[in-house]
Amino acid sequence: MKTLVIVAHPNLEQSKVNRTWMNRLQQEENISVHNLYAHYPTFEIDVEKEQQLLLEHDRIILQFPFYWYSSPALLKQWQDWVLTYGWAYGSRGTKLRGKELMLVISTGGPETAYQAGGYNHFSMSELIKPFQATANLTGMRFLPSFTKHGVRLLTIEHIRESAEELVRHLKNNY
Ligand SMILES: Cc1cc2nc3c(=O)[nH]c(=O)nc-3n(C[C@H](O)[C@H](O)[C@H](O)COP(=O)(O)O)c2cc1C
Repeated sequence: MKTLVIVAHPNLEQSKVNRTWMNRLQQEENISVHNLYAHYPTFEIDVEKEQQLLLEHDRIILQFPFYWYSSPALLKQWQDWVLTYGWAYGSRGTKLRGKELMLVISTGGPETAYQAGGYNHFSMSELIKPFQATANLTGMRFLPSFTKHGVRLLTIEHIRESAEELVRHLKNNY
């Protein structure tokens, strides 16, 4: 099982959580880490290269900080450009069929905010539905996400622990 982790963070130098997670995952065998903003600072995504990377892996992980209840913009651009008709979907677009998709997300808001009655009103499962729908349309199995809430309040020690939790989450066979 080969895993590709696509990291989408526009400002990794100032990141605490996603940078720690990315560095930790880079130490794992059979996991390739792909830093999207480092490759495409001007959003000029190399579609063929990205499609080739997807073909070479069985499990695709999208790792990002939650921005306006979704992903940072470059990951949306990546979806728009890379997951094309006739390749990822449509009657002959079968290239992703049978692969797995998982989200790894950090949020500023606390866990209690992400529920009915909380200040964000909606749960993570509701807010990430577009990703689940994308997995569905492209024939990918949508795996349980790894989400860490309230990350601004985490100590360095907690962040390191969360990286180990993440590794354990990835090693679970769903
Ligand atoms: C443009 C922007 C939008 C954000 N939108 C949300 C949001 O919708 N929900 C939320 O809980 N946090 C939001 N945040 C907070 C980030 O999710 C948080 O800072 C990030 O997960 C921290 O991870 P890092 O240490 O890797 O940078 C936002 C931050 C920025 C800069």
